[in-house]
Amino acid sequence: MSILQHIELITEGETEILVFKNKDYKKGPGSKDKLPFYNPSMELNRDLSILLNQWIIDNSKIHVNILDGLAASGIRGVRLANELRGNFDITINDWDEDSHDLIKKNIKKCKLKNAFAIKRNLNSLLSNMRFHYIDIDPFGSPVYFVDSAMRSIYNNGIIACTATDTATLCGVYPNVCKRRYGVKSFHSNVMHETGLRILLGFLCRESVKYDKGIEPLVCYSTDHYFRVYIKVKKGVNHANRSVGNMKYVTSKELFSPKINSANIGPLWLGKIENKNVIRELISYVFKKKFNTKGELLNLLNLLENEANSSPFFYTTDNLASLLKISPPRLNRIIEQLKEKGYDVSKTHFSNTGFKTNSPREVIEEIFKQKK
Ligand SMILES: C[S@@+](CC[C@H](N)C(=O)[O-])C[C@H]1O[C@@H](n2cnc3c(N)ncnc32)[C@H](O)[C@@H]1O
Repeated sequence: MSILQHIELITEGETEILVFKNKDYKKGPGSKDKLPFYNPSMELNRDLSILLNQWIIDNSKIHVNILDGLAASGIRGVRLANELRGNFDITINDWDEDSHDLIKKNIKKCKLKNAFAIKRNLNSLLSNMRFHYIDIDPFGSPVYFVDSAMRSIYNNGIIACTATDTATLCGVYPNVCKRRYGVKSFHSNVMHETGLRILLGFLCRESVKYDKGIEPLVCYSTDHYFRVYIKVKKGVNHANRSVGNMKYVTSKELFSPKINSANIGPLWLGKIENKNVIRELISYVFKKKFNTKGELLNLLNLLENEANSSPFFYTTDNLASLLKISPPRLNRIIEQLKEKGYDVSKTHFSNTGFKTNSPREVIEEIFKQKK
């Protein structure tokens, strides 16, 4: 039976593209299959990469070299080539024969002049080509490609990574996390934020050994993946500044009294969002066509709101259970903390979560008020 009979024409954003649709598709980490992989639930992830790359091109005076390093059907790279405007080209790579054929078919179908299909091991490709943007979207963890991406990326270039090993980063398999990322993970109410900061910490360590530093631009977590966009800056000063953001925290700082450990980390405790970049991305959402527009705006607005907040957050359900009361409405807590003059924002990490600079006693007082 020919694999071509599984092929389907779908539309994402402004692009019609051929993919192999897996009828038994479920959310969660992608798995290796015989057919080139296509995951419809990653559409928002790809949409955001379109926004980010348009921002890179618009802010660059030179021709931009983009790499979709682990391309599968080529959907991300083909969409980038078709939907971006400006001075750029894109290399679309996958070592799998069927993927490579499908990528070439899609480049031809979309009549793309600035997209090139390559069939190589990503690590060897990164060892002899350089890029301004490198996208690493693997099955599971991106750690196996980060060292070569750090060497390949141009100064001030951007590396984007997806990690779908969420269980590992969220503390279900602490020993795997220790081996893979060099940090013990923790299963707690703030595990999505610690997971993201473990991933960023790993990227930081991989950059500083080459006297480079990282600056996170847009980073977020969902139930089934983490995604980070980091700028890589060359120079000892940038490297030292980055290393200065690697710190240990106590369970008290994580607002997670259940974790019984004095020193947790090292985690990236620097900023994880760049408010100005996110604002610009929000303005781009209205200039392009996205099927996920509502979701995209919702996520970017939450990221913008929490961009300047300190690490970690409370959740109404967790605090209420510690105080042995029923969980209050999140909006009431936020309003009352604001009335008292504290900084407070919702967080994309949890829909019952809030970040604030208020002392714990003040929050508990508000929780106990009946209103
Ligand atoms: C999760 S899929 C990529 C999904 C794709 N980016 C998308 O948006 O649909 C991962 C792909 O990486 C490819 N791959 C895995 N290891 C590789 C390597 N070392 N070099 C090149 N390709 C690799 C696999 O063949 C697979 O197609």
